[in-house]
Amino acid sequence: MISKATIDKVYEAVRVEEVIQDYVQLKKSGANFKGLSPFTSERTPSFMVSPVKQIWKDFSSGKGGNAIAFLMEMEQYTYPEAIKHLAQKYNIEIEETAQSSEQKEAKDHQESLYLVTEFAQEYFQKQLNENAQGRIIGLSYFRERGFTEDTIKRFRLGFGGTDWQGLAKEALAQGYKAELLEESGVCFKVDSPAASSSGQPELRDRFRDRVIFPIQSTSGRVLGFGGRILDTQKKVAKYVNSPESPIYHKAKALYGIHFAKSAIAKLNNCYLVEGYTDVIQLHQRGVENVVSSSGTALTESQIRMIRRLCSTITLIFDADQAGIRASMRSIDLILAEGLNVRVLSLPEGEDPDSFARSHDYEEITAYFEQHQIDFITYKSQILLGEAKDAITKSEAIREIVKSIWHIGDPIKRELYIKQCVDTFKLSEAVVYAALADLESKEKRDARSRSYSQNNISGLEVIAANSKPTETKDRQKELERSLIESLLLYGSKLEVFDDAFLEADEQSGELISKRSLIKSKVYEKIYLDLQQDEMRFSDPVYSSLFDWVIRFYTEQQGEEIADLLKFLEKQQKEELIQHVSSIVFEYEQYALHQWERKNIYPKERKDQIAQQVSETILSLRSHWVQQHLSELQKRSVEEVDTNILEEVMDYLMLNKVLSKRLNRVLTV
Ligand code: CTP
Ligand code: MN
Repeated sequence: MISKATIDKVYEAVRVEEVIQDYVQLKKSGANFKGLSPFTSERTPSFMVSPVKQIWKDFSSGKGGNAIAFLMEMEQYTYPEAIKHLAQKYNIEIEETAQSSEQKEAKDHQESLYLVTEFAQEYFQKQLNENAQGRIIGLSYFRERGFTEDTIKRFRLGFGGTDWQGLAKEALAQGYKAELLEESGVCFKVDSPAASSSGQPELRDRFRDRVIFPIQSTSGRVLGFGGRILDTQKKVAKYVNSPESPIYHKAKALYGIHFAKSAIAKLNNCYLVEGYTDVIQLHQRGVENVVSSSGTALTESQIRMIRRLCSTITLIFDADQAGIRASMRSIDLILAEGLNVRVLSLPEGEDPDSFARSHDYEEITAYFEQHQIDFITYKSQILLGEAKDAITKSEAIREIVKSIWHIGDPIKRELYIKQCVDTFKLSEAVVYAALADLESKEKRDARSRSYSQNNISGLEVIAANSKPTETKDRQKELERSLIESLLLYGSKLEVFDDAFLEADEQSGELISKRSLIKSKVYEKIYLDLQQDEMRFSDPVYSSLFDWVIRFYTEQQGEEIADLLKFLEKQQKEELIQHVSSIVFEYEQYALHQWERKNIYPKERKDQIAQQVSETILSLRSHWVQQHLSELQKRSVEEVDTNILEEVMDYLMLNKVLSKRLNRVLTV
């Protein structure tokens, strides 16, 4: 681990504009710098850098953050890698902290396994290029498949050798431990005495007589291997792969990711193919945003790895039954992780490997662009085919609705619902009802699993006959507005027209009393939310809220720049990105208003107190209404006087809140 002191030194030395200037030509624009986005191929600059706040924002891709975030985005560095890069740039010596002995042991153990896989990889490469047998069998095999010298070198392809113990012997002779050779999976133990001359268990090579595809991590380290048999007639598995080990987890590896990462980020799209050879062949043709999950069904971890780089995955699976089943499954998983998914079908009988061999770069990209379809079209093609009967149709619709149900983003969801409605000429109500059906089924299952959650998801509101997206969106919008005020004016002292509720002595009805209270904006927001036990529904806002409140209460500063420093110290890179987005977008908004109307926008500063009170009240009323609809539904299901009483209370509260909201709005 890099020491805290080193990280602090790096943060002190780093200037975001200096780091970015290594990649982007920046021009002064007011207090900021402007340039062309390095993440998209735009013609008019929408990439902004603020030297004062030490942050950047790319309006074409929506990305933003501090210098570290830029390097992580640009170079696909991990956090420590970015720190190391900066330390080098600013001549700061890197100090490593002492790790706990267990941490150190685990780390050392992993490191020794990496040394073994690197050694094995070099051995396989040597076998392929220098050994006569390797050249005759292995190299000619790759050539026959159309791989060039460059490709073979780039993907570090190899040959396993013809000897049962070739690698084992050479590695042991060089001092690599037998246990590590076994654990990394390049060798395995055979303990039948007949098999070994000494009667001792014997180490054997796992990949004998196979061509080797090293599987690499994002940063290019060798995790394990896939070995393909040369002669497909033999009655043995076509591929042998490394077993799971402390450094190789099948579910978390993506073949080709090391070579594909920058292209994926740049093109904001990732092709997912089935095999090693598909990846290599496409790369060789210049289509580099391609990876493969290699023999395992696509996993959540793999999707998340891709999600760090781009927002759309395009599936290219074989058109056979197995391929279709895999793609159907993958679609829902990808949607559930918040990414867009598209499906690409190749001409009959082709796979990416054969297609890439018989077409050039222009043909491939043209075909890929023209033949990607969205999941609704894909699913309806597959499930419906030529059939027009009602039963097949309703089954197909149900399947498609199931996919839509996995989408978290309300806006996207809404768009797909529309598309589904248009495609099948349905009424929206039918689609919403099908969604609500799925939701209540899921809810029932979830309820039997746990009883604790009392939050209300958007879809329950559908069941109560309104659109989910509106309420969800509204809530998020309010939460964002509150966060915005907190960030921009949190430390300002303001006079709030406050009110508290009191029960009328005679009628028992709740009435609100007014008073003027002087307080800092953050205190007002914090105390009001606290009082109602209100939480942010959006996890990012929720975490941002907690940290910003901490920043103010610990008196770490008053300005955005101080807040960013504080977040940097806490290593909250993700939050920094959100803060810069909010701040830049706010500035952009002000600028836009000014340019459009040629007037200075009415400063929002003038109305902070009112804006904050209004947002809190709206959120509160929103929250109360959600509770109400939940309670009302329950009161239909079970007759319980407690619930009815609670409903009455909330109705009364709702009335008071609406009244007050009205007043604030008409001040
Ligand atoms: N695979 C595997 N084990 C097998 C078969 C397949 O791990 N027994 C994985 C490999 O990663 C392989 C991918 O699944 O690359 C796709 O399988 P397949 O299409 O059979 O392999 P290809 O690599 O396309 O082989 P080839 O084109 O050489 O026949
Ligand atoms: Mn193939």
